[in-house]
Amino acid sequence: MNYKRLGRAGLKVSELSFGSWVTYGNQLDAKAASECMAAAWDMGVNFFDNAEVYAAGESERIMGEVLKSLAWPRLKFVVSTKFFWGITDGPNAKNSLNRKYLMQAIDGSLKRLQLDHVDLVYCHRADPETPIEETVWAMHDMIRQGKALYWGTSEWSASEIMAACQVAERHHLTKPVVEQPQYNLFHRKRVETEYRHLYDDIGLGLTTWSPLASGLLTGKYRGGVPAGSRGSIPRMAFLVADLTDAKKNAAVGALEAVAKDLGCTLAQFAIAWCARNPHVSSVITGASRVDQVKENLKAAEIVPKLTAPVLERVDKIVAGLRE
Ligand SMILES: NC(=O)c1ccc[n+]([C@@H]2O[C@H](COP(=O)([O-])OP(=O)(O)OC[C@H]3O[C@@H](n4cnc5c(N)ncnc54)[C@H](OP(=O)(O)O)[C@@H]3O)[C@@H](O)[C@H]2O)c1
Repeated sequence: MNYKRLGRAGLKVSELSFGSWVTYGNQLDAKAASECMAAAWDMGVNFFDNAEVYAAGESERIMGEVLKSLAWPRLKFVVSTKFFWGITDGPNAKNSLNRKYLMQAIDGSLKRLQLDHVDLVYCHRADPETPIEETVWAMHDMIRQGKALYWGTSEWSASEIMAACQVAERHHLTKPVVEQPQYNLFHRKRVETEYRHLYDDIGLGLTTWSPLASGLLTGKYRGGVPAGSRGSIPRMAFLVADLTDAKKNAAVGALEAVAKDLGCTLAQFAIAWCARNPHVSSVITGASRVDQVKENLKAAEIVPKLTAPVLERVDKIVAGLRE
């Protein structure tokens, strides 16, 4: 496993990491989550991603229980959480990055995670109703209080990220160092085009999500939605049209041939394809079973095989299908 700096920050994260969206508290209980985290750790993962909203706090509670029982040295692992959607009702508790919500949300997360600080905290979406100064000050204060070490954004536009950096610069506050965007073979524009100046201009790091496009890039949706898969979960029905898209699934068939030529599975190939981008600090993988964790993390061995001719072949396959 390689460890990469988070953009220009000094923190190093494993190039493949492990997150808990959909799975913890829904498909994985604490015992199964523990098996998955232990397997990831054994394969060199040092970064575990979470969010307040995942399973309405239950995902953080499970991760906290697992971290306590596995008792890894605190210096050796990196944990994140994210704030925006909130988990209680009320005008200051939902869809916000206001100071009141943020300062209280971190305390709730730390309690559930049984930690005295998280390493990374993300503003999970941009909030058009809170002045960016207010959010930057709150993130700075959270860090000054020792409750988080670094902060970043998730799915903010390039101009919103720049605005946050400029506010921080003007007031000598802690700057955001990382963005968490979606990035996979079918979803590339933000990482490859919109953010392209931010890597050099502000030293932005990326921890990217949904490398398998929720499972589409494993090939398992080519015959419809398999039982027990993410696509079969009723509240994930919004994903089904994309997961079963005929053109994308035809491309997935052609990508499977590329993976075969490289001697790996399609999931490993798709994850390695994300990790080969030098601007990506860590690809956050997801898994509903320990065998998926073990398969997916072997993608680290495939990254060096992604030569220019391979990448050109892949670009031809996904041309016209990528966002
Ligand atoms: N910042 C954000 O807004 C945001 C949004 C989404 C995710 N994230 C983060 O990114 C992480 C990864 O996202 P993701 O879970 O969407 O990643 P993904 O890699 O696109 O999808 C993971 C899912 O695909 C299936 N899968 C994984 N490996 C497989 C394999 N080898 N064979 C067959 N199926 C396999 C599993 O679902 P089934 O087995 O149930 O089908 C698994 O839960 C999340 O856990 C979260 O930490 C962040």
